Amino acid sequence: MSKVTVVGAGNVGATCANVLAFNEVADEVVMLDVKENVSEGKAMDMMQTAQLLDFDTTITGCTNDYAKTANSDVVIITSGIPRKPGMTREELIGVNAGIVKNVAQSALAYSPDAIIVVISNPMDTMTYLALNALGLPKNRIIGMGGALDSSRFKYYLSQALGCNANEVEGMVIGGHGDTTMIPLTRFATYKGIPVSQLLSEEKLEEVVKATMVGGATLTGLLGTSAWYAPGAAGALVAESIIHNQKKMIPCSVALEGEYGESDICIGVPVVLGKNGIEEIIRLELNGEEKALFAKSAAAVRATNVVLKEINVL
Ligand code: LAC
Repeated sequence: MSKVTVVGAGNVGATCANVLAFNEVADEVVMLDVKENVSEGKAMDMMQTAQLLDFDTTITGCTNDYAKTANSDVVIITSGIPRKPGMTREELIGVNAGIVKNVAQSALAYSPDAIIVVISNPMDTMTYLALNALGLPKNRIIGMGGALDSSRFKYYLSQALGCNANEVEGMVIGGHGDTTMIPLTRFATYKGIPVSQLLSEEKLEEVVKATMVGGATLTGLLGTSAWYAPGAAGALVAESIIHNQKKMIPCSVALEGEYGESDICIGVPVVLGKNGIEEIIRLELNGEEKALFAKSAAAVRATNVVLKEINVL
């Protein structure tokens, strides 16, 4: 029996639970929210799609009752407030850090062996917070940002190429921030053909810029942050863990010397399986990419410092 808990049944959490159920990633999905009856109602609504969509996963909801989440294999944390138009993800730290720390500790108390997937923003800093607050081995703490940013990168590449997004490969590494993410155009391909052979430098630059502000663009359109792709990205990460798929997915993970960084959680490609992070892939970055990564890490680190200033770490 496999079990996934999604903490936070807002737009992102509910979408994530829905994708987990629809794809039958786990036998059981539990949603937990602080707002009374919200996750119970959303769970019941989703269960009423089970025969329409033909899935066997059981979804339940509960109001802040962590006992119901006991013995989860994976706990996905989406708690906290989303950004409003004009806000950066980093501005959410003051409100979200305390919530994420509390949620992570409460969930771990009932699921001591769980792998923790962090979605809450600022995502790299919330992942770093979970790692340090929980004191778990680094393979069990994963931030999903790179999975989302890479899917946005592939979307924008497919739009520029006029092709099927499923035939595009591309990775985004670095921080999950408007100015910190690094879409790796040099490694992106269309069916194995380097995209640099198919798109002009100007077009590729446009794709990079659109990817970096992909979340902000949606926040501007929606008045709150996006949820379909963020929720699905969380489910993709959980699926590779639960089904031991060993997929290579860029995620925010603790580095200990890899990419020249340590004491930080930041996006790099990792292999995800039943142990969480099974391997950190070391890409051969060129000078320009290395410089971008160092700059991104410095920005993420500056946000991490705030955790101490606000006494959350
Ligand atoms: C986004 C938020 C979830 O990028 O960080 O849409």
